[in-house]
Amino acid sequence: MISRETIDRVFETARVEEVIGEFVALKKSGSSFKGLSPFVDEKTPSFMVSPVKGIWKDFSTGKGGNAISFLMEHEHFSYPEAIRYLADKYNIVIEETEQTDEQKEAADERESMYLVSKYAQDYFHNTMLKTQKGKAIGLSYFKERGFSDDMIETFKLGYCLDDWTAFTDEALQKGYDLQYLESTGLTIVKEGGKQFDRFKGRVMFPIHSMGGRVLGFGGRILTNDKKAAKYLNSPESKIYHKSSVLYGLYQSKKTISKDDNCYLVEGYTDVISLYQKGITNVVASSGTALTPDQIRLVKRLTPNMTVLFDGDAAGLRASVRGIDLILEQGMNVKVVTFPDGEDPDSFAKKKNTEELKDHLENNQQDFISFKVSLLLTEAQNDPIKKAGLIRDIVLSISKIPDSIKQEVYIQECARMMDISETVLFNELAQMLDKKARDADKKSVSKGEANMRIAASKKQAVKTAPQTAPSDMPDEEAYQAMMLAQEGITIPQEATAIKSGSKANSLDLYEREIIKILLLYGNHTVTFIDWVEEHDKKGKVVMVKEEYENTVAHELYLQLQDDEIEFSNPLFQKIYKELSHQLNQEEKLLLERLTSHEDQQIALEVTNILMDDEHHVLSDWESKEIEVTRKTDVLQKLVQDAILNMRRVLIEQKVKELMGEVTVEEKRVEALQEVMSYTQLKTLLFEKLHRVL
Ligand code: CTP
Ligand code: MN
Repeated sequence: MISRETIDRVFETARVEEVIGEFVALKKSGSSFKGLSPFVDEKTPSFMVSPVKGIWKDFSTGKGGNAISFLMEHEHFSYPEAIRYLADKYNIVIEETEQTDEQKEAADERESMYLVSKYAQDYFHNTMLKTQKGKAIGLSYFKERGFSDDMIETFKLGYCLDDWTAFTDEALQKGYDLQYLESTGLTIVKEGGKQFDRFKGRVMFPIHSMGGRVLGFGGRILTNDKKAAKYLNSPESKIYHKSSVLYGLYQSKKTISKDDNCYLVEGYTDVISLYQKGITNVVASSGTALTPDQIRLVKRLTPNMTVLFDGDAAGLRASVRGIDLILEQGMNVKVVTFPDGEDPDSFAKKKNTEELKDHLENNQQDFISFKVSLLLTEAQNDPIKKAGLIRDIVLSISKIPDSIKQEVYIQECARMMDISETVLFNELAQMLDKKARDADKKSVSKGEANMRIAASKKQAVKTAPQTAPSDMPDEEAYQAMMLAQEGITIPQEATAIKSGSKANSLDLYEREIIKILLLYGNHTVTFIDWVEEHDKKGKVVMVKEEYENTVAHELYLQLQDDEIEFSNPLFQKIYKELSHQLNQEEKLLLERLTSHEDQQIALEVTNILMDDEHHVLSDWESKEIEVTRKTDVLQKLVQDAILNMRRVLIEQKVKELMGEVTVEEKRVEALQEVMSYTQLKTLLFEKLHRVL
């Protein structure tokens, strides 16, 4: 178990924007940062991080929280995993409280698999650098390939000895469980119970998650054995899902985000060779065809992808097909090819950094134009082939989600292929039409369910007023009349709220009070009050009194004075927490709420704290917008919130009493009470006006 002190230190040290910045490209926006949601596909940013508040909010999915909860959501870490990750990131030494054997056993399976994988990475790495055989075989192979010490370190390359069980024996001896050695695929257990190392005699490429955890390995054979596979990979497991991992992403993510571009290559060796030459924004899908999940990983960091193709023409056509998938994800795709017979790895080795960068710069082509020219050369003077080619190209264009881009491409392609735009547009229209029909078919069942939900929601709204008590006299008219007698007209805002349901308006004010507490609770403000005093002649006069208090204390006292309780259970819970803090610590500690074990509290507090950020999000580009700073008018804000809440409560009370007015025997009493409440309300309005 991690000690409380360690957890507290982690919370104190971790900067939410730094933690999230490793996974999402964040841009400064006012006092916050914004970026694309890492949880859904989107083109406009809806993800906000507030360094001041120490929280994040994803407006697309409604998710939100602190640095820890981000890691739990995004990396699927458990709570302790997230703490350990942050402790490691910020060089905080983890103090452990004694762990019993049962607790050790209880540590969850995935965590154990991560641990054994990390151990294996370090073991293979050290074996290669420190043992005689490791140096003579593994290290010398990499050196021959031209990989520098720096790259061997950055990518944690290693070597698995050519013994049957050297690694497994060592791991078992270190206390790692055979169960996890087997489930990660590091050890193969035969039927008779015989064990051996899967990667025996291979050089090792560890595969990392975006956050740097070891998920699996690729192992390259060193002999010329034609029967054995050149590359062997870890099998799919609970921690290694091939389709959602990109090799090199952990090492490259910073530059991908910074350079706003990602190079895509075929395999491990291409990544490392380019990286060594200073192209540090490069990833590989390694072995498998690129998947939508993998593209999404990149899209969190940049919308731009440059695919690097080997020089051999045969592979080209097949690879080109996969690119439609990247277009479909709304990414901008460029391609670069290499001279015949060269792959990025071999090419990078022959060139210096500058030559390599020049090649990448000067040879990059827009994907669609690249595809057109590629297919045009194939279809030269063959009208039938050319017809097929048109379809092929338009199919690619139809995958692009942006219709303006589509149009530009149609024009460009028409020019390149010497075909009228109309023909291409017609073809595109047909394809889009078909796509829409296919999509309809697919989502029929899902759509129906959604519609049903929507319909029942509408119905609920429609019937709501009818279910409200209807046995009352025209309460609002009566109330307005009474108030008119007092010389009061109901302000605009109040009428607006009155037309909604009462419970909702109370909710609104309760939320407002919670929000003020959360945002400004610890601010000290000069408050104004009007107190009755007797002047020399004994006449009652109202005297203005100024006093200083923190917003939280002021609200607390006022609510206590009025014995106001929150009607919304969640707000009540939050308020209870806040007043508890106030009594214990003399101030409010927001991080205790945003990291609260009650998820409902944590999320609601995050939501409230991010309210204004959402506003910033939608308006952020129009920099002229001046937001009146709420802190300037804090005292008014606090007073208004209280007064408004009182007003709604009085209105509720009056409404309740008006129900009794219809009951003959209660009538007089009820009416009297209504009168006194109305007077109270009058006073309240007077106060409201004075304060203003
Ligand atoms: N690759 C793979 N599985 C294979 C073959 C290749 O995953 N069976 C991937 C590897 O990631 C490798 C990349 O494709 O880095 C390039 O393949 P290749 O050039 O055949 O591998 P190299 O190790 O570079 O071999 P060689 O020295 O013969 O070029
Ligand atoms: Mn190669």
